[in-house]
Amino acid sequence: MLELKNINKAFGQRQILNNFSMTVPDQQIVSIVGPSGAGKTTLLRCIAGLEKPDSGTFLLDGQSFDPSADRGRERKIGVVFQDFNLFPNLSVLDNITLAPKMVNNQTDKQAAKQVADLVESLSLGQVAKQYPYQLSGGQKQRVAIARALAMQPTILCYDEPTSALDPTLRDTVGELILELKQRGITQIVVTHDQQFAEQIADQLVTVKPLDA
Ligand SMILES: Nc1ncnc2c1ncn2[C@@H]1O[C@H](COP(=O)(O)OP(=O)(O)OP(=O)(O)O)[C@@H](O)[C@H]1O
Ligand SMILES: [Mg+2]
Repeated sequence: MLELKNINKAFGQRQILNNFSMTVPDQQIVSIVGPSGAGKTTLLRCIAGLEKPDSGTFLLDGQSFDPSADRGRERKIGVVFQDFNLFPNLSVLDNITLAPKMVNNQTDKQAAKQVADLVESLSLGQVAKQYPYQLSGGQKQRVAIARALAMQPTILCYDEPTSALDPTLRDTVGELILELKQRGITQIVVTHDQQFAEQIADQLVTVKPLDA
């Protein structure tokens, strides 16, 4: 279970997150909704350790941790960002393989087996040797999800996973998120698509802009 307690974050004089708290139970899908500029991406960046909150507590299974410092725990939390951040100079396979090999100290054989499984379950077989610029938006997203899953996170976060997708692909991503839930992964989905959020989520959390 992931708990956020009284998270505060300001940029300069502007308070973005004001005593934000939420609880994400294991294996649930929590959707974070709210208007543009409310602080949804900022919240994800704080959870991922890319932004440091001014104050507040993060607890994973009851133990407090600092996402920006505690790399061991932070790796249990994966994030798929809106622009995917794929390595442009690496093939799909290498994008997925790089981090687990470097960070998780997997052998080549272990990494290859895991990547083969991910490539298959995310239907990336046909594009495995291609480079990011040769992929469609939906394919890039699946590579980004495969890359995050290769780190074996217990919690996976997404920033606007449907924003670049047509309605059919939107449903495909929804199905994938529900399938990952069945596989035991806890997920946090930031979206401004209220309907999508209601379709997939066990819990909706609204982030409100403070100065609107
Ligand atoms: N690094 C930064 N420095 C200064 N201000 C920032 C920074 N990052 C975000 N902000 C501001 O914080 C506010 C919240 O931004 P954020 O990206 O979290 O919103 P959001 O809810 O994700 O919006 P959207 O739905 O448009 O993606 C915005 O006003 C933004 O300009
Ligand atoms: Mg955002």
